[in-house]
Amino acid sequence: MNLEFRTAGESHGKGILVFISGLPAGVSIDLSFIKQELARRRKGFGVSPRMHLEEDRIEVLGGLRWGKTLGSPLAFWVQNTEYDKWQPLMDPEGERPKDYEEVTIPRPGHADLSGLVKYRFKDIRNVIERASARETVGRCIAGAVAKLFLAPFGVRVGGFVESIGGIRVSLGEISWEEAFERALSSPLATVDREEEMKARIAQAMAEGDTLGGTFVVAALGVVPGVGSYVEVHKRLDSRLAFYLMGIPGIKGVEIGDGFRGAELSGSAVHDAIFYDARRSPFPFFRKTNRSGGIEGGVATGEVIWARCAMKPIPTLRRGLPSVDIVSKKEVVARYERSDVCAVPRALVVGEGMLAWVLADAYMEKFGGDTLEEALESFRAYCSYLESFKS
Ligand SMILES: Cc1cc2nc3c(=O)[nH]c(=O)nc-3n(C[C@H](O)[C@H](O)[C@H](O)COP(=O)(O)O)c2cc1C
Repeated sequence: MNLEFRTAGESHGKGILVFISGLPAGVSIDLSFIKQELARRRKGFGVSPRMHLEEDRIEVLGGLRWGKTLGSPLAFWVQNTEYDKWQPLMDPEGERPKDYEEVTIPRPGHADLSGLVKYRFKDIRNVIERASARETVGRCIAGAVAKLFLAPFGVRVGGFVESIGGIRVSLGEISWEEAFERALSSPLATVDREEEMKARIAQAMAEGDTLGGTFVVAALGVVPGVGSYVEVHKRLDSRLAFYLMGIPGIKGVEIGDGFRGAELSGSAVHDAIFYDARRSPFPFFRKTNRSGGIEGGVATGEVIWARCAMKPIPTLRRGLPSVDIVSKKEVVARYERSDVCAVPRALVVGEGMLAWVLADAYMEKFGGDTLEEALESFRAYCSYLESFKS
């Protein structure tokens, strides 16, 4: 692991802190791009009203001078603009308000009950606050930084929502670039059938219910040979699965046609190898890409793509059966304002995590203290790839 990021902060606390280390000096960090990514994480249809109340006010605390990294750790701070309202409940230094009532009803599908047991808490709010997906603001920032790092290497990361509540789109003849563009201009970050998806979400909303779905993330322009088969933590697929599965609500991850491939025979799954000297930098290529651009944990040079399945949001307005941990009475789980469907929002985090894994793997392969050193090593590697033509 060459790059590392850590986050701190609670959902209704003062804010979220992100600490990123391992980047070389000289990487251009455009704060307006990071803000755009955060804005994408907030949008959607069927998104909690909280998303409209809160704005992600981001500040750089270290590691950057005049828009370029210094090689030192980067630190970002995202202030919670609603903190004033929450201060009595969340003050790190204050005392418990006299009239404060502990949260004692765990919501099924959340970390509420298992987190309470694990940390021997009496108040479920201690769990809710950190287990909340608010923390993914930090992962989004790390992902946006990774996208900016990868840009000079010609790598572009994007994605699209593939299904919501069983309404599914397929890429068909659409190129990856076009899919990325369509998703960027769609409120549901999808490429087709948006009105049907909206109607499905509106229906769930009216019923006090929630929805999940799937999204696809992809990276274009990744050179072959990034990642490795030599050890588990060097494999691109294992690293990708780790970061994608870690996104709250994600319950399934597949690289390429993973699950579908399990139902087919080898001849229908593996991507045959072709050669064309006009291709640059690497003349070997595939006409299909069912492997998701990774074989043996190493990039093949084709588009790297993965699919994630997100479960329906576990906070339902109509409530789910639960038990009060104090009275032991059967009750309906509490409702705190919540998304009805967060698949488009999770997509942005997923793209960020794909970018993060690739940025880490690029630093591993090309390295250096400065971006220019890494690019020099990258250019030399591209010349080597060209040499397969002779
Ligand atoms: C971007 C994003 C937004 C989410 N919004 C909500 C929400 O508003 N309400 C909710 O109950 N869960 C939401 N979730 C999902 C929960 O955070 C998640 O299901 C919960 O923490 C339990 O974790 P697990 O599903 O990974 O087991 C969201 C997840 C993501 C990635």
